[in-house]
Amino acid sequence: MNRMRLDKFLAQSGAGTRSEVKKLIRSGRVQVNGCVEKRPEAGIDAERDEVYKDGRILSWEPFVWLMFNKPQGCVTATSDRSAKTVMDYIGHERKQELFPVGRLDVDTEGLLLFTNDGALAHRMLAPSHHVEKTYFVRVEGALTQEDADAFCAGVDIGEKRPTLPAGLHILKSGEISEAELTITEGKFHQVKRMFAARGKHVKYLKRTSMGGIRLDETLAPGEWRALTKEEKERLNYAE
Ligand code: URA
Repeated sequence: MNRMRLDKFLAQSGAGTRSEVKKLIRSGRVQVNGCVEKRPEAGIDAERDEVYKDGRILSWEPFVWLMFNKPQGCVTATSDRSAKTVMDYIGHERKQELFPVGRLDVDTEGLLLFTNDGALAHRMLAPSHHVEKTYFVRVEGALTQEDADAFCAGVDIGEKRPTLPAGLHILKSGEISEAELTITEGKFHQVKRMFAARGKHVKYLKRTSMGGIRLDETLAPGEWRALTKEEKERLNYAE
């Protein structure tokens, strides 16, 4: 049972803005359970009632999942007194229900998921679930096989225990090196602290995947899109 107004249901199903769908409803193009409904304020059960627009059934889902390509310079928070937040970029109809799944530093770019599914988000972030996160990193100094071996064995970043085994794939080694690092935990500033433990300063950090979802590289920094059905299914397997 999920009761809401008909115009809200239509807007949340992607049928148009709130004022567009009000016009649609008043013009008789919307049916609820086979009957034309001309009142935008009519109450419906979003999970049970069958709503048609121009003869085509609309689908509504309780849970929304978005992927966002976070740009540098915004904080991962739902609100902040002075700083720009990741929320400022999201123009989704159900934005008020959404929150970011985990966090990225102000100067980190890349994949950030948003949802209103608190239970699945909580499971994805639980340390016991070891959800994989991959980062593209640019660091000062040469990366070597010893660094990869150290990350594989676990490094001391000043916590009670060393980090869990992490995979370092070196893409380029030199004065400035590039690599992909996959970790299965999410301690504060974890990636930067892991490289610092190897004497390397991270100059640029971008998350490229999380829980089996890869960042859609067609999204420019600051852009978002809904997860596809297939991506949502993958999330459930990853948790
Ligand atoms: N590790 C970091 O150091 N920063 C991030 O934003 C994410 C992981």
